[in-house]
Amino acid sequence: MKKGNKYGTHRVIEPNGALPQPAIKISNDMEIFDNEILIDVDYLNIDSASFTQLKEAANGNIEKVKDKILEIVEEKGKMQNPVTGSGGMLIGNVEKIGESLKSTVDLKIGDKIATLVSLSLTPLRIDKILKIDPEIDRVEIIGKAILFESGIYAKLPEDMEDTLALAVLDVAGAPAQVKNLVKPGNTVLILGATGKSGLMCSYVAKKLVGKKGKVIGQARNEKRAEFLRSTGFCHDVIIADVLEPVNVLEKVLEVNDRMEVDISINCLSIPSTELSCILPVRDGGVVYFFSMATSFTKAALGAEGVGKDVLMIIGNGYTKNHDQFALDILRESSTLRKIFREKYVNN
Ligand SMILES: NC(=O)c1ccc[n+]([C@@H]2O[C@H](COP(=O)([O-])OP(=O)(O)OC[C@H]3O[C@@H](n4cnc5c(N)ncnc54)[C@H](OP(=O)(O)O)[C@@H]3O)[C@@H](O)[C@H]2O)c1
Repeated sequence: MKKGNKYGTHRVIEPNGALPQPAIKISNDMEIFDNEILIDVDYLNIDSASFTQLKEAANGNIEKVKDKILEIVEEKGKMQNPVTGSGGMLIGNVEKIGESLKSTVDLKIGDKIATLVSLSLTPLRIDKILKIDPEIDRVEIIGKAILFESGIYAKLPEDMEDTLALAVLDVAGAPAQVKNLVKPGNTVLILGATGKSGLMCSYVAKKLVGKKGKVIGQARNEKRAEFLRSTGFCHDVIIADVLEPVNVLEKVLEVNDRMEVDISINCLSIPSTELSCILPVRDGGVVYFFSMATSFTKAALGAEGVGKDVLMIIGNGYTKNHDQFALDILRESSTLRKIFREKYVNN
């Protein structure tokens, strides 16, 4: 077997010297190097910002989305949306383990795993798309993928359906980061609180803020607000247009004694929502951008433009033990489990 680089640079075709994530094109030749794992893929979970963009560009035509996914993978050797730059993750079975990894990984042939590194850097070959579930960004395929030596993964738990674990692990970084950021007594605003990561963040934040704190969840209309209220994960639910920052600010002030919040978390899947997340935060507060549709330029210049001295954090998809933390939340909350099972399993 050929010797590979720990970070997968041996797979990069263009540009020379790049790492696989920012690379324009990588090799998806499925002959593995000594430090790689070959995976027989069942499902791709396309990142929500990416899938939203693909659907919009195809005017909702799923056949066109299918063609676009095939075209991207054919061109780039990986499923990296050229507009959002983001990927997603996958689940599948271990098919081969490179020689130099055999004694170091806790895996055997046939194990079912979820990759916890992005599809935007994962060598992927799609032989056939079997099904697309547009409501939940899930693509069932026949295909193979490669995990590098530095690529993290999780063995799928036995007490949960694979598709449920896939959905949870996709956004595992968000609730784990909330655990690190939110302190008792904080007021926390969650934009996109009705979505997958938003619900998990709301649940965790409510536990952490305690009796003196407050979690404010944003929904886009009355129907979604009603759903969010029914979970009990937020102290207050606001209906606000996330493309109108002043509207978001006003709705937050209305439910928070005219005060700005300590922390805001962006769990939305659409672009241009940076200022809706920044404006309601007090000076010295924290803005956490989990959304992959976030623009660094819009956030940095937007904050400057409104004179906000806030700490802005990029949502690193990885936080130590984020996978176990996220799965444990599902085990702990029957409400969350019920919502997720209805959406991601009984589909
Ligand atoms: N940082 C990372 O490592 C990482 C990893 C995975 C995902 N992400 C990103 O995290 C974000 C959330 O992912 P997710 O899986 O939680 O997404 P999701 O379940 O699809 O939820 C998206 C949220 O955005 C709202 N939304 C969508 N379109 C909207 C519109 N036109 N107007 C107003 N609100 C709208 C949804 O409202 P409804 O509920 O009403 O539809 C929902 O609250 C995405 O940007 C995703 O790409 C980041």
